[in-house]
Amino acid sequence: MKRITVSAPGKLMLLGDHAVVYQRPCLVTAVDQRMFVTVELINKPEFQLHAPDLLPDDYKKPLTQIGSGTIPKGVAYCEVAVSLFIQKFGLPSGIRVSSQANFSSLLGLGSSSAITVCILKALCSIFGIKITNKELFILCYQTVLAVAGVGSGFDVAAGIYGGVIFFVGGGKEITPLSVVSLPLLVGYTGIKADTPTIVRSVSEKMKQFPKLINGLFTVSDLVVTRGQNALIEHDLQTFGEMMNINEGLLASLGVESEQLSILIQAARMAGAYGAKLSGAGMGDCMITIAPPDRVRQVKQSIALHGRLITVSCNAEGVKLEAQ
Ligand code: MEV
Repeated sequence: MKRITVSAPGKLMLLGDHAVVYQRPCLVTAVDQRMFVTVELINKPEFQLHAPDLLPDDYKKPLTQIGSGTIPKGVAYCEVAVSLFIQKFGLPSGIRVSSQANFSSLLGLGSSSAITVCILKALCSIFGIKITNKELFILCYQTVLAVAGVGSGFDVAAGIYGGVIFFVGGGKEITPLSVVSLPLLVGYTGIKADTPTIVRSVSEKMKQFPKLINGLFTVSDLVVTRGQNALIEHDLQTFGEMMNINEGLLASLGVESEQLSILIQAARMAGAYGAKLSGAGMGDCMITIAPPDRVRQVKQSIALHGRLITVSCNAEGVKLEAQ
């Protein structure tokens, strides 16, 4: 039977977190933590899913019922992606989808976005449907909005395009940047953040104090622009300063948890150029960047206060692994 394997990278938000939900810009990097998805055509008119990271047991549903009835939380992105694919292109055969990631879905590195990108890319490839990156982005973003209800789409853009991207909320602009190297250090708080809930808490703040929050987001725009130039010029010191200013804005939004703040301070005290949370906040990961002669101390300090995660930035976007 015909089968295809596709992989897509995870992501880390560099600057512009939360503001990007309000159609503002952010910088995001793809990371080498990858999701691998194999799609296989099967004789039964069924959608079968084998995703041990997401669900302990295998899952299956008749093709005619895809997208309806109860959808367990762990399979929502996969099933909704398949359902949107069917609405757009139809599905001439049953499929078996198997996924495997080389990173834990608890880290907040974008396992849901990566699996969404993989499934839709694999389905297009296996049925010979030519799709541009922008068209793929639109399908993936529809999936994210249908499942989570909120989100800017920056994570699926990172999964598709890879590299370091200047991204404007909703995909209004997706521009790959030429960045020579980005020696990011990452600390994990050990706490899983619930992104939609945190995004909604910020939207409550926006309703309460629209002028103030929009003011913070206007500063965020400036931070993203300055940070983008610094990255292109490999001026990591300025980039670190932009991280610190961005963290101040995020703390004002109330999304800096105690554990994040401990890790961020620890990195700064150990000599980092700058440090900030990455993503929604309240848990998941923080990122930092340090001068070469302080990297060892910063790593030690992160490991002492949380968990050091080794990542390599600028990773390749979605790609065909085997067919
Ligand atoms: C979450 O990883 C990042 C947010 O900006 C939400 C989003 O952009 O979808 C908070």
